[in-house]
Amino acid sequence: MDNREVIINVEGLTKDYGYGRGVFDISIKIHKGECYGYLGPNGAGKSTTIRHIMGFAKPTIGKVQIFGKDSFGNTDKILSQVGYLPGEPAIPAGLDGWGFIRMMQGMRGEANEERLKYLLDLFKFNPDCSVKEMSLGEKRKLAVIAAFMNDPEVLILDEPTSGLDPVMQKVFIKFIIEEKKRGKTILLSSHIFSEVDATCDTISIIKDGHHVSTFNAKELKKEQDRTFILHFFNKENLNRFIKEKNKFEIAYSNEDILLAVVTFPANKYNEFFDSLEGIVITQFEEKPFTLQDYFMSFYKEERTFGGLEGVKGNTKEGLKNNGK
Ligand SMILES: Nc1ncnc2c1ncn2[C@@H]1O[C@H](COP(=O)(O)OP(=O)(O)OP(=O)(O)O)[C@@H](O)[C@H]1O
Ligand SMILES: [Mg+2]
Repeated sequence: MDNREVIINVEGLTKDYGYGRGVFDISIKIHKGECYGYLGPNGAGKSTTIRHIMGFAKPTIGKVQIFGKDSFGNTDKILSQVGYLPGEPAIPAGLDGWGFIRMMQGMRGEANEERLKYLLDLFKFNPDCSVKEMSLGEKRKLAVIAAFMNDPEVLILDEPTSGLDPVMQKVFIKFIIEEKKRGKTILLSSHIFSEVDATCDTISIIKDGHHVSTFNAKELKKEQDRTFILHFFNKENLNRFIKEKNKFEIAYSNEDILLAVVTFPANKYNEFFDSLEGIVITQFEEKPFTLQDYFMSFYKEERTFGGLEGVKGNTKEGLKNNGK
């Protein structure tokens, strides 16, 4: 039970665009100070959900509230209180960087010059250039700076690192972690596992417009099965381990290279180590669990995801499925 104030509350949101497209029965609760990751591939429904939270669109069914008020019809107020980074930021081409920054400050009716300077330094951005001449990454940086320059308490970020180079992606992730430490409430959509893994407390996976899983990132890691890769001294040791000693699932074994991959539940460490007694092992490594493994348990065999197909990992399918 989380007693913190609920900042974003989505209950049973459905937006039906027809032909199976849209989002269906989506529920999200984001508490004050929480960093919530919204993970899904292209077309899953991330931006649609976020646009409803920002109040740009009216739900077909369901309730969408931010700060305890319905989002639809309140966009101006929401924009003045939330740092919003759209999936495709629209920046007028006729301006230069400073022009856009001043325009956004004017619309919000406030300017935090100290914070602006901090962000310009952090993202190594020079706003002197005209928007027309900016690269995609530079426009993205400008949109990021404009979203954060008033130091908002709530950040809603739709795929914030797309278009940024790897160095800037790292700067951005560090920035999000700092904002989280400062108590900000953050909703971050992404299809990049590592950035969600590095930043978010609660993660929802969305697939074809439906939530398939919502979980606490730390608990998921604690509960996942463990996978170990064992290298044996010789065939006898390998076979003795498989036939006599091991009580757990052998995911893979190979006599030629004297290797076995063993998977066991997280609370069975002792039994696993007991099973190694009297067996000569030359090398021993744990395969770390990744969010990607878990995610792929929902997507494998159905569609490719960022070029990754059929990634096999230590997954526990259905863990807390649809946990709301
Ligand atoms: N205005 C619209 N009219 C009709 N269909 C739409 C509209 N907006 C989104 N869709 C459809 O709804 C589904 C979800 O789209 P959405 O943009 O929310 O996905 P996304 O998860 O943000 O994807 P991406 O990672 O590509 O940004 C898609 O099938 C899309 O084609
Ligand atoms: Mg999108």
